[in-house]
Amino acid sequence: MMSDGFQHLGGAERVTCTLILSVFTAVLGSLQFGYNIGVINAPQKIIEQSYNETWIKRQAGVGEPLPIDQATLTTLWSLSVAIFSIGGMVSSFLLGTLAEWLGRKKAMLVNNLLAVIGGILMGLSQYCQSYEMLILGRFVIGAYCGISSGLVPMYVGEISPTRLRGTLGTLHQLAIVSGILVAQIFGLDVIMGTNELWPLLLAVTVFPAVLQATLLPLCPESPRYLYIIRKEEGKAKHCLRMLTGRWDVTKSLMEMKEEKRKMDMEPKVTIAQLFKMASYRQPIFIAIVLQLSQQLSGINAVFYYSTSIFIGMGIQQPVYITIGVGIVNTAFTVVSLFLVERMGRRTLHLLGLAGMSGCAFTMTISLALLEKLPWMSYISTVAIFGFVAFFEVGPGPIPWFIVAELFSQGPRPTAMTIAGFANWTSNFIVAMTFQYIVELCGPFVFLIFALLLIGFFGFTYFMVPETRGKTFEQIAATFRRNPSFLDWEFKQNGTELEYLDDDSTV
Ligand SMILES: *[C@@H]1O[C@H](CO)[C@@H](O)[C@H](O)[C@H]1NC(C)=O
Repeated sequence: MMSDGFQHLGGAERVTCTLILSVFTAVLGSLQFGYNIGVINAPQKIIEQSYNETWIKRQAGVGEPLPIDQATLTTLWSLSVAIFSIGGMVSSFLLGTLAEWLGRKKAMLVNNLLAVIGGILMGLSQYCQSYEMLILGRFVIGAYCGISSGLVPMYVGEISPTRLRGTLGTLHQLAIVSGILVAQIFGLDVIMGTNELWPLLLAVTVFPAVLQATLLPLCPESPRYLYIIRKEEGKAKHCLRMLTGRWDVTKSLMEMKEEKRKMDMEPKVTIAQLFKMASYRQPIFIAIVLQLSQQLSGINAVFYYSTSIFIGMGIQQPVYITIGVGIVNTAFTVVSLFLVERMGRRTLHLLGLAGMSGCAFTMTISLALLEKLPWMSYISTVAIFGFVAFFEVGPGPIPWFIVAELFSQGPRPTAMTIAGFANWTSNFIVAMTFQYIVELCGPFVFLIFALLLIGFFGFTYFMVPETRGKTFEQIAATFRRNPSFLDWEFKQNGTELEYLDDDSTV
């Protein structure tokens, strides 16, 4: 895919410095998204100890100070990890409004305020003896990430020339996984994963925010936004000229005119309509379950908690395995960029789910046998690497592709919002409950994920059509030919006449 893109470098699609600068500036946001996913993994024990000390200090003067009890500590830490997703969930609903009202560029600029506030709150929490500040900071930085994870692909997609759109779009994903990796490396005890430096580790996210805010004024606004939404043709032309380095931008303008015409033909769909109309019901149900399959696979249990999982297993130097996870994750993101272009979405998702499930079973067995057979720790390490690799092949990227491909222009933005909501919600559930489940089931925690993954495999096998290279009409026809149990419900209610064939009557 990369090669496809860059073949055109010498041709009609020149890569200008402005384009490179704008893409680079934008994906700083994706880098921060990844960073804040990975950053709380390695220093968990250190920060927990600091919560404990704060707890003890606060009782000073009130009799004999008692250390924090394990249950309270688990709750406080789970909340610190998970509230990030609540921030993301809330802000992903504001994303659409913000991007239309301020424009892509100004929205990114303003969003950096959240990153700075979040970073400062987390960085000063230790100094101020307040874990509440850290939790609040995680919420604010989560809100930042919810907005930037939507804005960055939107902006990059809109400023890229058609032929480079796919290639440049993948930089968003690559920046996220690199961010996770960087966070895991910074979290090493020889770098910032220490009793003194962990507040800095969390606050580092302020630097890319400041850098982005400095560079953004040099970047042009999205011409598509200016032309299609603001209807400012002159400004759109100016930005197109900056991005393409050419005076004559008629071709790009024609493309946008065509896009605008298509958009006007297909009005936007509200959330309520999306659930009410029969023709959307099955696709939106599939979109939601696919997002659940991504998060309930347990992937973020690994990204948020792998170090403590490995400590629990009695493995030496758990942080290095966590970094191994980050490296495998980055490598397989690149592999998957090539695969997605060549193989069907459905096939890749099935492959990924089956592989993850196999690895989760292996992990369960090896963890259970660890006491008797210490070399099982190698098996479980390989299994956790495989788990992450299969994630990046299937459940990582594919749910987003399929949602985009199941819906045409009109309902797509709303469908993406709902998919995002399902994603952040299930992300929260895993982040919040994982430690409790570990306390309950010990090594069998991954058995739960293995079984869920089998369930999602079955769902994908029976319910999800192949979307790659198909038109929306063809996909819609698949749903009509294979009415699901959802449609059955309607037949029972005796309302099928309205819904059976003609979507336009609804
Ligand atoms: C809290 O700190 C005290 C004293 O340093 C220690 O004895 C106790 O085990 C710690 N509690 C937890 C839950 O880590």
